[in-house]
Amino acid sequence: MPDDRAPDDSLSLHQPAREITRREMLRAAGGLTFLALVPTGRLAFPFALPATTPDAPTAPLLFTALPYIQPGDNSRLVAGAESVVVAWQTEPRASTFTVEYGLTTSYGRTAAVSVTARPGPTADDGHLNYTAALTALDLGRTYRYRVREGARTVVEGYFTTRKPRGTPIRFVAFGDNSYGDPGQRAIAWYAYQARPDFVVNTGDNVYESGLDSEYIKYFFPVYNTDVGGPTTGAPLIRTVPFYTVLANHDCHGKDANKHPVADLEKSPDALGYFTAMHLPLNGPTAPPQPMPLVGDPAAFLASAGSRYPRMGTYSFDYGDAHFLCLDSNVYVDPTDPGWAAFIEQDLSSTDATWKIVVYHHPAFNVGNQHYAEQQLRVLAPQLERLGVSLVLNGHEHIYQRTKPFTFLPDGPGAARDVGSGNRLVHGHFTIDETYDGSRVTTPKGIIYITTGAGGKELYDPGYSTAPEKWLHAEDDHVAYAARLFTDLHSFTVIEIDGGTLTLRQIDEHNAEVDRIRITKA
Ligand SMILES: [Fe+2]
Repeated sequence: MPDDRAPDDSLSLHQPAREITRREMLRAAGGLTFLALVPTGRLAFPFALPATTPDAPTAPLLFTALPYIQPGDNSRLVAGAESVVVAWQTEPRASTFTVEYGLTTSYGRTAAVSVTARPGPTADDGHLNYTAALTALDLGRTYRYRVREGARTVVEGYFTTRKPRGTPIRFVAFGDNSYGDPGQRAIAWYAYQARPDFVVNTGDNVYESGLDSEYIKYFFPVYNTDVGGPTTGAPLIRTVPFYTVLANHDCHGKDANKHPVADLEKSPDALGYFTAMHLPLNGPTAPPQPMPLVGDPAAFLASAGSRYPRMGTYSFDYGDAHFLCLDSNVYVDPTDPGWAAFIEQDLSSTDATWKIVVYHHPAFNVGNQHYAEQQLRVLAPQLERLGVSLVLNGHEHIYQRTKPFTFLPDGPGAARDVGSGNRLVHGHFTIDETYDGSRVTTPKGIIYITTGAGGKELYDPGYSTAPEKWLHAEDDHVAYAARLFTDLHSFTVIEIDGGTLTLRQIDEHNAEVDRIRITKA
């Protein structure tokens, strides 16, 4: 089946960076063709439908987020029972939308459209969140869809559903995305050029505080651009789903103990994660430590529904891989038996060849900025026993790849000291020094990847070529890091084909800075 999401070959990897025209973008890669959406003049967003006639009676409707693809509540791969969510946001003015979909541009099926209201940072600047669930889909198929406002077409596009077992997949991962800075836009563009099936966003999805107003300013205008390029961003999220995780910059405010909370009184548009994203809802119904809320939650809950707090932890399958996404924020006690039970149930019940765990705060991090926040080390023995191959993190604004190793904690240490400044867990490393990722490719232990160089200012300058700085007395100077790249922003490309996983790290100029292969024994 041709990959009709794929960018034009002339724009493939390793080409010199250049801007492309709107015509090229629409022809090459959009996944969506946006008809007649024009900027309203305030930066890149919002967009408006132009009036149909010069004397149209009403002003065009403003879009604060153009239609984007979301994974929806799908975990296991079930042929014929797949669904995808198309979401978009507008100014708070009532309108009527229709969403049609099908295997051809004849469509043939109509999705129900839901809408909820979200407050803005002040009382008079909220917006409306629209969603349409496109249901009863097959796996690994490309579907067409069309969104109309009244009789007027807003977008025509297409997407591809999750690939079934036995099918090669490719995805990209990055985190700590920033304020629409140049590095974030370059990463978005080259991540798009890598032709991923989906994106894993390893947290700090938007700065500074995960507010809806920040998603509107810094997230959608970068990952859902109408015109793509290394200085603008890409139409990525209109093409493929984003799987995101909760992180420190996705909550907002501090309580009386200076522990992070979502302060809905101070910021009514906090926790955009739970209202703009639509992720699987198979996490714990009552998480042991959910994202804490302050203030009247009624308006937030009316929009988030059952997504809060359940969407903070979830899992899903894609091709031959199973992904477990955890909330690693400092209010979480990773020694809580409730988390262990959920992890046990989730990872022991999948038949996937590859098990990949995603959370924001790296458990094994030789960087300096967040060295004390390595509380998730206590999970290592369980993840090893349950056959996890790879862990993906963000938080530290660098790329770091570890050697394969197993880790035996001395005990819980300070891991359960929720909110404390130093939660590093001491223990014993058993490092596989023979694995090199090219000739010896079957590791003994887990490889931990920190891919937090997705846009925000970088940490630890000079560390890339100074391995003596990777050693810490707290870990008895154990050399468990294999590669650091801290000089440029970068993202991870992972391809899985049967028993082979290939990982590449690509910098903001589209150069490959690391590559390993992992094979199953
Ligand atoms: Fe972070």
